[in-house]
Amino acid sequence: MRVTITEIKEMKQKKENIPMLTAYDYVTAKMIEEAGVPLILVGDSLGMVMLGYESTIPVTMEEMIHHTKAVVRGARRALIIGDMPFMTYHIDISDALHNAARFIQEGGAQAVKLEGGEVVADTVRRLVGCGIPVMGHIGLTPQSIHQLGGFKVRGKGLEEARKLLNDARILEEAGAFAIVLECTPAPLSKLITQKLAIPTIGIGAGPDCDGQVQVISDLLGLYSDFVPKHAKQYARLAGEIKTAVSSYISEVKSRSFPTAEQSYTMDESLIDVIASEAKQSKCK
Ligand code: KIV
Repeated sequence: MRVTITEIKEMKQKKENIPMLTAYDYVTAKMIEEAGVPLILVGDSLGMVMLGYESTIPVTMEEMIHHTKAVVRGARRALIIGDMPFMTYHIDISDALHNAARFIQEGGAQAVKLEGGEVVADTVRRLVGCGIPVMGHIGLTPQSIHQLGGFKVRGKGLEEARKLLNDARILEEAGAFAIVLECTPAPLSKLITQKLAIPTIGIGAGPDCDGQVQVISDLLGLYSDFVPKHAKQYARLAGEIKTAVSSYISEVKSRSFPTAEQSYTMDESLIDVIASEAKQSKCK
């Protein structure tokens, strides 16, 4: 049985912190689930850390569905959340319903995430009403990067802090089962967490959220184009990969790879037969 949104909500009541990670492919999903992650987000960060875009804005539904399917095949127990890309839930409700349904039906996800507070509340209410669990996402919302003027901490001032608390309450009231708080000051994240019955999942939001989410490539030290302040590298795989690939290159060049250990054998007398046949056919 997969982890359910009820179990995730109960984790808050039991004061059990919720570890969530992103994944974009079969192998990673399998490994992080085996390590015990109950909640996997197929984030639209895919665009930056896997596809090489400069922001999450170019990411399409097709790309998200493709990667969601791979993650669902890799992780059989975790709750999988598909991240709705830029402008796939704003145009009108039927568009939002159609795209969210694709994540569930085609992608095999169990929930979707969308960015924004009050402005998306009606959409959240409608999706939840149709049986699609929704995770909210407020604070720094990367799909609004041009509007926000960059990847900056949100809610440091009184007005914006008030708005974020209000957005969180509205999302909860609309039926969201959890809310990502991205790049919000720790004291504000703590207050929002205390005021909600549903879990908050922080990224750059301090230690007092009900859970934490990290982009897997940041955690593994795989993506070095930009490492945000809130990311902790638990490994430095980029360096290890480069060292491994350099060793491979030099062994191929020096013919020390492959050896007999990586090669297949056969009855070598057959080679003599084939070689002499080849010689004869050349003579004809
Ligand atoms: O796309 C993503 O990876 C996200 C997380 C940062 C929460 O939205």
